[in-house]
Amino acid sequence: MHSDETRPASEFWDELYGEREQVWSGKPNPALVSEIETVAPGRALDLGCGEGADALWLAQRGWTVTGVDISGVALERAARHAQEAGLEDRTVWLHRDLAEWQPDAEYDLVSAQFLHSPLEFPRERVLLTAARAVAPGGLLLVVGHADFPPWAQHAHEGERAQPPTANELALALGLPEDQWTVEARTSEGREATGPDGQKAILTDAILKARRTA
Ligand SMILES: C[S@@+](CC[C@H](N)C(=O)[O-])C[C@H]1O[C@@H](n2cnc3c(N)ncnc32)[C@H](O)[C@@H]1O
Repeated sequence: MHSDETRPASEFWDELYGEREQVWSGKPNPALVSEIETVAPGRALDLGCGEGADALWLAQRGWTVTGVDISGVALERAARHAQEAGLEDRTVWLHRDLAEWQPDAEYDLVSAQFLHSPLEFPRERVLLTAARAVAPGGLLLVVGHADFPPWAQHAHEGERAQPPTANELALALGLPEDQWTVEARTSEGREATGPDGQKAILTDAILKARRTA
């Protein structure tokens, strides 16, 4: 993954996805599974859904899921996987730039899993916009790298060299205490596999916020 900030983000991500038939593992992200497996299904929004593994896992568990991504290549894969799994009725795929998109519905879960980008990307603003789409009683779940993986060391010039901790992100989002209960933590280490089969132990920054009002 190399960044070239002169290109539109959609081209960058389409090219990245176009380099391989499958970029991500096809499995749901572990923190999504551990945080959401006991939550009753409802309406979910997956920000930067990529090839759709998280959205499909949610849909299999009864959620109605809207996946948003800037890459049409990734979304075609997500839609194909949904069709193969017979989950078209529970999944909607939106080809949008989250830097500009405004949700026009409410969701019981807004999930952002590894919504990192090597390009200029207003992550906090996007997350705050999405937080406004969480229904009362619903959850905002933001999972990111606590440290960038070794295979993405040069990939994040558009971000800080060190990703924010969950506490830093919680502070930056400033969700009002009278409307949200916020939990921020770093996960245990987990073994992960990079795009070329590289292995590394990764930790995740997990921000889970429940909208109380
Ligand atoms: C690191 S990948 C994570 C994909 C997926 N959530 C996962 O955990 O496997 C980041 C995703 O965000 C998407 N993305 C990056 N910038 C975006 C933007 N401005 N609008 C919408 N999606 C964007 C990319 O296309 C990519 O699918």
